[in-house]
Amino acid sequence: MITTEILKVNRDAPEHGIMDRAAAVIRAGRLVAFPTETVYGLGADAMNGEAVLAIFRAKERPADNPLIVHVSDNEMLELLVNDIPEEALRLIDRFWPGPLTLVFSRRPGMADCVSRGLSTIAVRMPASPIALDLIRRAKTPIAAPSANLSGRPSPTRAQDVFADLNGRIGLILDGGPTTVGIESTVLDLTGPPVILRPGLVTRSQLEDVIGPIVPEARAEELRRSPGTRHRHYSPKAHVVLVLDGAKDDLRSITAGFLDRGKVGFIGFSDLGLPADLIKQILLQNDVESYARSLYSAFRDLDEAGVAVIVVQVAALGDGASDAIIDRLSRAASETIIRGGTSL
Ligand code: TXA
Ligand code: MG
Repeated sequence: MITTEILKVNRDAPEHGIMDRAAAVIRAGRLVAFPTETVYGLGADAMNGEAVLAIFRAKERPADNPLIVHVSDNEMLELLVNDIPEEALRLIDRFWPGPLTLVFSRRPGMADCVSRGLSTIAVRMPASPIALDLIRRAKTPIAAPSANLSGRPSPTRAQDVFADLNGRIGLILDGGPTTVGIESTVLDLTGPPVILRPGLVTRSQLEDVIGPIVPEARAEELRRSPGTRHRHYSPKAHVVLVLDGAKDDLRSITAGFLDRGKVGFIGFSDLGLPADLIKQILLQNDVESYARSLYSAFRDLDEAGVAVIVVQVAALGDGASDAIIDRLSRAASETIIRGGTSL
């Protein structure tokens, strides 16, 4: 068992000494967990096959699920890919650094280990100064999946990484809570453009830049993302989504689960139920704040030992709500629909 060290880092002005140490760990072929703007990543030198395999072991990640490579400039990208299509250049110009991952055709022999046998490679330039600084100092692209144990919600705080990976990795950089809170949008550009994973960069924002993307209904047959096959993002508790429930519905549904044990509620207003039996986490009813708090809410409720988590789902009224609905439906075991309006 390895001792896991947590170092606090200033998120806007990362301390040079700490960042040099972290970069040396990457260069030595070992792992560093670090904050990006979306979620914490578990990083290794993308050009070192042994180091990349250590990520799979630490996370217990299925061997067929490829990793995203993080770069700090376009030269690093050019190193990894065969060519950069025109649409990619326009998207990079508009959205990088930021929460958009692009899938390219991979340059043969480059970063073989990250792609798990695919001829493609997923790349993103993160916006977090800590992530960018780490890549620049390590002078190598950094492969990094979310820094959770496989199957658990992605970590948005250093303590979440520690809870999952303590004893399995040597270093966690603690840059405070991440600002976006859910994983990047993944867009495959190796054929007709397909969204492999929705995120806060929305379909319509992407279409404004590159024109039509394969519609959701036709996308399934084209999906080449092994990761979307695996169950994902789930807390330990049984998760129940309640669509469009009025407060009375939510109250009776939540109280109805009390025979299973303590119940958690994630929603927008206080249900007025006894706090010793029902642990509530109240979120603001807009996409950005919802995304920022969702995974930490799941983890805090698991930590509190609830048997069931009831989640109030409302029309968040934005293209980005696709991403929230995607994550919620992967976490949920049950959905209850109340009320007339649809999402
Ligand atoms: O926001 C994020 O994207 C975070 C931070 C750390 O950057 N990373 C992240 O990585 O969420 P991960 O490994 O948890 O999810 C990566 C997703 C998976 O669904 C994987 O299957 C897909 O990207 N992916 C990676 N390489 C791919 C490729 N060559 N083709 C298709 N899908 C790929
Ligand atoms: Mg992940």
